[in-house]
Amino acid sequence: MSTKILILYYTRYGATRTLAQHIARGVEQIEDCEALLRTVPAVSVSTEKVDAPVPEQGDIYVTKDDLRACHGLALGSPTRFGNMAAPMKFFWDTTSDIWLNGQLIDKPACVFTSTASMHGGQESTLISMMLPLIHHGMVIVGIPYSEPGLTATHSGGTPYGASHLAGAKGELAVTEDEKALCIAQGKRLAIMAKKLS
Ligand SMILES: Cc1cc2nc3c(=O)[nH]c(=O)nc-3n(C[C@H](O)[C@H](O)[C@H](O)COP(=O)(O)O)c2cc1C
Repeated sequence: MSTKILILYYTRYGATRTLAQHIARGVEQIEDCEALLRTVPAVSVSTEKVDAPVPEQGDIYVTKDDLRACHGLALGSPTRFGNMAAPMKFFWDTTSDIWLNGQLIDKPACVFTSTASMHGGQESTLISMMLPLIHHGMVIVGIPYSEPGLTATHSGGTPYGASHLAGAKGELAVTEDEKALCIAQGKRLAIMAKKLS
């Protein structure tokens, strides 16, 4: 049976999806590990508007069974005012039953984000995403300083998790250091999931 790594992200402009895809490449470099890319729907200011059950394009929406079935989780969101985006928080607020049954306890998890500005809150967002995971009993996996990209980077990439500096208009491509750190994070998560499962 393969080790399943759920890569769950929200994106509005695509940068966080690109990071998710690089993390998936890292996961799949580890033997018998499979990356499953999933997203969450946007939330509407009108509580009466309901999204289509399947997105028009891109990765499909996560289900709670995806969470239950995974052996490890990479969680990504754009930074919004130094915090995770509301659609991702909204999703976690629906997971009480999983929490009550302890279904994520001892599974490894890591986090990733994208910001417009260099000091716009990458680390606070990464930590904000760790909080529900810690409540669920997950084991947080960061990026160790043995990864050369952590000291070489002039943009994103933190020990708390992979990150990207996208620029005010999302004009900056993912750099080689940012990419290498995504791949390293995916590999490390997959290795930990294999060890813990
Ligand atoms: C409501 C809102 C709040 C934001 N807050 C921040 C912020 O606190 N710091 C920052 O650097 N960028 C902020 N941004 C910019 C996004 O984090 C940035 O554009 C990110 O790269 C988008 O990721 P995506 O392409 O995956 O949607 C904000 C964007 C929006 C729409």
